[in-house]
Amino acid sequence: HPALAVSRAALLPPPGGPGDAAGQELPVESRPFASYGSALHIALPQAPRAGQLLTLLIDYEAGEGPGVCWLSPEQTAGKQKPYMYTQGQAVLNRSFFPCFDTPSVKFTYSATVKVPEGFTAVMSAMTWEKQKDNTFVFKMSQPIPSYLIALVVGDIVSADVGPRSRVWAEPCLIEAAKKEYDGVIEEFLVVGEKLFGPYVWGRYDILFMPPSFPFGGMENPCLTFVTPCLLAGDRSLVDVIIHEISHSWFGNLVTNATWGEFWLNEGFTMYAQRRISTEVYGLPYTCLEAATGRALLRQHMDATGEEHPLNKLRVVIEPGFCLFLGVNPDDTYNETPYEKGYCFVSYLAHLVGNQNKFDAFLQAYVNRFKFQSITADDTLGFFLEYFPELKEKGVDSIPGFEFDRWLNTPGWPPYLPDLSPGQQLMRPADELAELWAADGLNMEAIEAVDITGWRTYQLVYFLDQVLQKSPLPEGNVKRLSKMYPKISKAQNAELQLRWCQIVLKNNMEAEYSKVKDFLHSQGKQKYTLPLYRAMWGGSEATRALAMETFSATAPQLHVNVQNYVKKILGLGGAE
Ligand code: BES
Ligand code: ZN
Repeated sequence: HPALAVSRAALLPPPGGPGDAAGQELPVESRPFASYGSALHIALPQAPRAGQLLTLLIDYEAGEGPGVCWLSPEQTAGKQKPYMYTQGQAVLNRSFFPCFDTPSVKFTYSATVKVPEGFTAVMSAMTWEKQKDNTFVFKMSQPIPSYLIALVVGDIVSADVGPRSRVWAEPCLIEAAKKEYDGVIEEFLVVGEKLFGPYVWGRYDILFMPPSFPFGGMENPCLTFVTPCLLAGDRSLVDVIIHEISHSWFGNLVTNATWGEFWLNEGFTMYAQRRISTEVYGLPYTCLEAATGRALLRQHMDATGEEHPLNKLRVVIEPGFCLFLGVNPDDTYNETPYEKGYCFVSYLAHLVGNQNKFDAFLQAYVNRFKFQSITADDTLGFFLEYFPELKEKGVDSIPGFEFDRWLNTPGWPPYLPDLSPGQQLMRPADELAELWAADGLNMEAIEAVDITGWRTYQLVYFLDQVLQKSPLPEGNVKRLSKMYPKISKAQNAELQLRWCQIVLKNNMEAEYSKVKDFLHSQGKQKYTLPLYRAMWGGSEATRALAMETFSATAPQLHVNVQNYVKKILGLGGAE
């Protein structure tokens, strides 16, 4: 990556053998590869033998690359000290250290990190040791792909929340962090192990990031990074943690060999997440959560067009030398690999027809491919091998449901899992949304519905229905807002997102400040982009709001998110 300055490469003598400990200096050259990085060529003195082990030493300096984020004190929760973090997925770690930055290569690593006085370093590693002189030593002894190496340096402290889990956060957030997750993580791990086999990563810790962290969660092994939005005070957003825990098997242990098959990571993880959720919270709740996921897929396909080439599970990624050619793997992050991927895995389970048998398959799959990087062909080949009677029946080529169609045809999934067990939670929300969308409001019927006991995802589902029916008849949203302060004044980010979307779709100028405040308070990509899209697709007033908000918040956003917003606003950002 241009942000990485490689100053020297050397071939070290074989360990224990004779030779110059500083190594033999080798010529280094950077050659064009893609808009998101170049190829580092190091010439060896002679061609190595097949299987020969070589040790290369590379001196380099990393700075302002997209993978390494430097935050000023104002961008942290405590506002006292600066903070730095790295985000590798998908192809950003090449600006952090020189590596084979592809998920098809796995390796172990160790790191020694020296930080200034008053700072703590943590990494996605199995062991963490503090030595003298503010030096931390890390070791990851299981092979992982490059995108899972992660580092944070900041004013952070930790608190135990389980036998193999602690939370990390800035001191001002640690109490809230401990309260949110004390005693709940272990159950998810235990259920995960029961379903998918041993948890091989030792610890499972959670690090609460500064508000500009662009994701809900990032499954860095041993140490998941999460947005501070998860500190809702009522554990209502715990599905993100279950999701990241599920990556411990799907993604981190069995890894997509190319970013073109990202659904192997995320689709299987969504399925695993909902299996764990079903065991812990039951089927109705899990179906409700899955219905909100399906709504996101609907919104995404409506926004991009079903036939968009990224709405395939298998995406063609070509490097391309300039910004306008090729597909950057980071640009394939959307709902399709998640929710269409989930539908495909659910379809495989449906073909098997028996949950226990399918669970056993998933466990065998993990065991077969653990520590490897694989393609969808490996996955589906193993599926047919594991269920020879299905192979016999030719389930891979049932008209309309061909495996090939699932992978290579854009559009709405040909099979949707049955979410009707969630009806008991969804129906009241559906009916209430119906009432609010009516021309003359039937206040008696509305007042008869008591939403005070509703779970967060029931409210989210309700708001998604209201959004779908928006704009509502004049005045309805204003009354809705007055009637349910629990929604219109919510501090829960999932509710805030939906409320802001409703405000924009209904041109409620009086509440535009809520949109602005929400965008100032956090920088998650999945919250930020839909709101800018809605503002840009709206009136003169919402376009002005978008411009004003972006110019104020841009410096705090992750550079990728900045670029996507620029693109939405026609400011020439690269996608
Ligand atoms: N691995 C992803 C986040 C990611 C994807 C980072 C692509 C960079 C590139 C993570 O596991 C994830 O999916 N997070 C979701 C959580 C949700 C699906 C519960 C998120 O951030 O919204
Ligand atoms: Zn994920």
